[in-house]
Amino acid sequence: MNAVNLMDPALMQDPFGGFARIREEGPLVKGSLARGTDPVWLVTRYEDVKQVLGDTRFVNDPASVPGKEVGDIREQVIAARGIDPDLAPYILDSILDADGADHLRLRRLVSREFTARRVLDLRPRMAEITESLLDRLDHETDLIENFAYPLPITVICELVGVPEEDRPTWREQGKAMMTMAPGAMNAPLREIIELTRSLIGRRRAEPGGDLLSALIRTHDEDGDRLSDLELITMVLTLILAGHETTAHLIGNGTLALLTHPDQLDLVKKDPGLWPRAVHELMRWCGPVHGTRMRYAAEDVEIGGQTIKKGESVVAILVSANLDPRRFDDAERLDVTREQDSRREVHVGFGHGLHYCLGAALARTEAEIAFNALFRRFPGLALAGEPERQYMPMSWRLAKLPVRLS
Ligand code: HEM
Repeated sequence: MNAVNLMDPALMQDPFGGFARIREEGPLVKGSLARGTDPVWLVTRYEDVKQVLGDTRFVNDPASVPGKEVGDIREQVIAARGIDPDLAPYILDSILDADGADHLRLRRLVSREFTARRVLDLRPRMAEITESLLDRLDHETDLIENFAYPLPITVICELVGVPEEDRPTWREQGKAMMTMAPGAMNAPLREIIELTRSLIGRRRAEPGGDLLSALIRTHDEDGDRLSDLELITMVLTLILAGHETTAHLIGNGTLALLTHPDQLDLVKKDPGLWPRAVHELMRWCGPVHGTRMRYAAEDVEIGGQTIKKGESVVAILVSANLDPRRFDDAERLDVTREQDSRREVHVGFGHGLHYCLGAALARTEAEIAFNALFRRFPGLALAGEPERQYMPMSWRLAKLPVRLS
């Protein structure tokens, strides 16, 4: 089989069918992520995906591979995406790119403050924001533009402590950064870096009860704390990783429920099912199709094949989540599927050390959003064709026209 082109429009249009075929080719299949970059191994089966993500012999930073020419890889990525060199650290040196002690340090410092308690405390505000957005919807509306996006961006900005007047810039520039055209991310990225730098200055002078003030203040037992570059990068990661993804979980999930009325009826009749339904929607139509690239720090065997030291791997989450080896009737949406709603079986939030830091926040938001939307508008219906937005490694809607009733 030729290397799978992850930018192939046919694959982006039909990831269920496309990845089912790739999954059956073998445990490891060669793929390419972007023109001008080296091919990667795609790992597509559930158990193999968990193994790769749970195995510390796979690292996220090429510098963690002994003897690897890191300069080349960094240069390739910078060139392929057209990133201005001075902006590269903000994009290429986040928590997602760190390994071992460096990763543990960042994860520990942020987890001290971004706690389950903080998410729980935010619940009433999430409900309030949700209701007020629903209050303002027109009878016919695009749910992506007017609900799925504004909810998570407002929630994450309140959590982090981004003032209201800065939020439209985050929304707009965040969106602009997602365009794949080489070089297109520089101007928006520069703008949000400056916005964050100025916010850090203000919060340092006048701390509040928000996460950013807490991250500025926080340090571990040895007095270690986040540098300014790390703080800016962390805020960028939290806000960018935190709102686009959640917006598309809400969008994809709403469409899935509208097109599976029997499943929607089940949760409407028993709202206690929502947590379980959100797990299932993450499995069936989660917005993130693949992880960041990993590198083998030594030769590692996966499914009987060897990934050689220095070679790269991408874990295809969508394929793992639809793997019939793990899930019965895997392609069927079944909101009653999980027997224990507290245990997450799917890998839509990743797995292992880099498991999504915001998973609890995203799940809570989605639960509140779906519950309120279908309670307030029990007759909610599609008012036109939903429009897909095709991007490699992601599953998203550009428009979801609905009629409220
Ligand atoms: C990591 C998905 C929401 C912050 C990840 C990973 C996935 C993921 C798959 C692991 C990537 C990898 O291993 O290469 C999602 C999905 C979301 C979501 C599907 C919504 C439905 C959020 C939210 C936040 C967030 C709301 C923050 C408020 C992060 C961070 C990491 C991460 C900081 C990196 C963790 C680390 O490297 O240790 N997310 N995410 N995510 N996510 Fe999320």
